Amino acid sequence: MAARSYSRIVEILEDLLSFERFSVGGVLKGGRLLVPAFRERRINLYAFDYKGSRGLVRLNKGRVTWYLGAPYGSSRVVFARDVAKGREQSILLKVDVDKPGVEEPLAPSLKPMRLLGGADDGETVAFGASTEREVAVYAVRGDEAWKVADVPGLPIITDVKGRRAVGVYMSNEKPGIMQLLLVDLEEGSINIKEARDGSVTNAVIHGDKIVYAAEKREGAEIRALDLDTLEDVELSLPHRDLEEFKPSAFHFIDSTPEGKLVVVARRKGRSAVFIDGRRVNTPRGTVLSAYLIEGKLVFDHNSLTTPTRVLETDLETGEYKVVLSGKTPEWLGEALRESVYVEVESFDGSRVPTFVLKSGVSETPGPTVVLVHGGPFAEDADAWDLFAASLAAIGFHVVMPNYRGSTGYGEEWRLRIIGDPCGGELEDIVAAARWARESGLASRVYIMGYSYGGYMTMCALTRKPGLFKAGVAGASVVDWEEMYELSDAVFRNFIELLFGGRRELWRERSPINYVDNLKDPLCIIHPQNDTRTPLKPVLKFMEKALEKGKTFEAHIAPDMGHIVTTMEEASKILLPALLFLAKAEASET
Ligand code: 4NP
Repeated sequence: MAARSYSRIVEILEDLLSFERFSVGGVLKGGRLLVPAFRERRINLYAFDYKGSRGLVRLNKGRVTWYLGAPYGSSRVVFARDVAKGREQSILLKVDVDKPGVEEPLAPSLKPMRLLGGADDGETVAFGASTEREVAVYAVRGDEAWKVADVPGLPIITDVKGRRAVGVYMSNEKPGIMQLLLVDLEEGSINIKEARDGSVTNAVIHGDKIVYAAEKREGAEIRALDLDTLEDVELSLPHRDLEEFKPSAFHFIDSTPEGKLVVVARRKGRSAVFIDGRRVNTPRGTVLSAYLIEGKLVFDHNSLTTPTRVLETDLETGEYKVVLSGKTPEWLGEALRESVYVEVESFDGSRVPTFVLKSGVSETPGPTVVLVHGGPFAEDADAWDLFAASLAAIGFHVVMPNYRGSTGYGEEWRLRIIGDPCGGELEDIVAAARWARESGLASRVYIMGYSYGGYMTMCALTRKPGLFKAGVAGASVVDWEEMYELSDAVFRNFIELLFGGRRELWRERSPINYVDNLKDPLCIIHPQNDTRTPLKPVLKFMEKALEKGKTFEAHIAPDMGHIVTTMEEASKILLPALLFLAKAEASET
């Protein structure tokens, strides 16, 4: 691979972390855009004067860990702040778009909690949250904040209008199946409705209907229910492009004030945007949010080779242009040479949807990292990925398998992980490593992952020793039994549903019980305050590895938790990973 000195790696990472990335979160009062951006070294929220001066005004003062999409014409923005140094104990704040920098707590009477998704209609906010003991839905309106109802399981609110909130819900009774959740915020009643087949992945209130995305065994579609009777009703869209696109997932559904339905659908890791079923021209890659403003569709866009930026498409001409983008380093275009989608055949004949990012600063075959996403209900797509970009930038090709359990490819594939963690999905990762070698891409193969991807690294190095040259396990899981003890209510539920209730597997599927097998170089990186994948079991793993005379390196990242929101946090995780892999590769050549 291209010779990369430590100082050059530091420079590359610094470059990758410092340019601005812009997305969209709604159309505010006065036609200003809500622009969440990675700018000024962290995530901040800006009002962008789209029609006028085109200036950016920062709305938040302190740190933002998460924000709610703003309804059309909103005069406020609601966002969350972790007040426990990354332990994900958050409060909600609001800021009036005409009073930038003046933050007010949204609900001073509520104590900090783990937030699970919420929505704002401009007056009412509804959200799910977990404490140590219980998971519930809450509502806030004016000075009033109240717990609406306990909802054991995993409730994710996706829309609210007045007294009604809708969302998606995973219960422990039906592991992995996602149902439609309807909440009457005033009566405190909960209604759960199963899709007639498959899972519900998103829902919005659209006039007198609820429109939801259904993930079918294969593929996905949008459907409607009557808001009052909850009976299925026909959703007749005036255009048929959406059906013809044959989506496999939906990432965004929004109802505009004019009664149009804007959806972002996805197939094979790439997005397409539709207004009332008619396709709008957007560049190849990923769109996460899209809004209508004055005859234009304004949306964010990114791809494996393009950092997130804001574009607009003229609905008359179909032409798009850039509205806001960061200035990327000159070397970026060459370093991130090309991304491709491949389907890798796994042990049982299944085809694993996989993205490959080819490094332009390396030969082919060249050193390759199998980069494993977290979740496991998440996906690697043609989408900007800081981990993948930094690996390619220092000369590693990157292979990203959407192992069974990943989202984006239908319910059947997603549910195949239930009851079998560190099983079939690990074999999919093994298949991706084999593919990397056999296709001529890889000279040597490494593995790296964060969170569930860190767990996969630990599983690979302890259950498949010798397969990878070395591995980086970030925020990993090593012991399900201890992790369960250390988790709060929502993560206890999640562990139960991931194992499909098969607690007897916890011990067998925990890397800490296979430390003996470890032989490839391992780099452990772990946030000190992580409350999703706690550090404690990982320290015990290290103690065992030490006793057994294993070689490993470890980096504890202080003052941060599981979620990366600042440039400094990103470098705490990425810098040791990149240096370790570069060193491992240098020792081979
Ligand atoms: P993620 O983190 O990969 O970032 O989503 C996880 C945290 C906990 C569990 C899995 C993943 N869990 O199974 O408890």
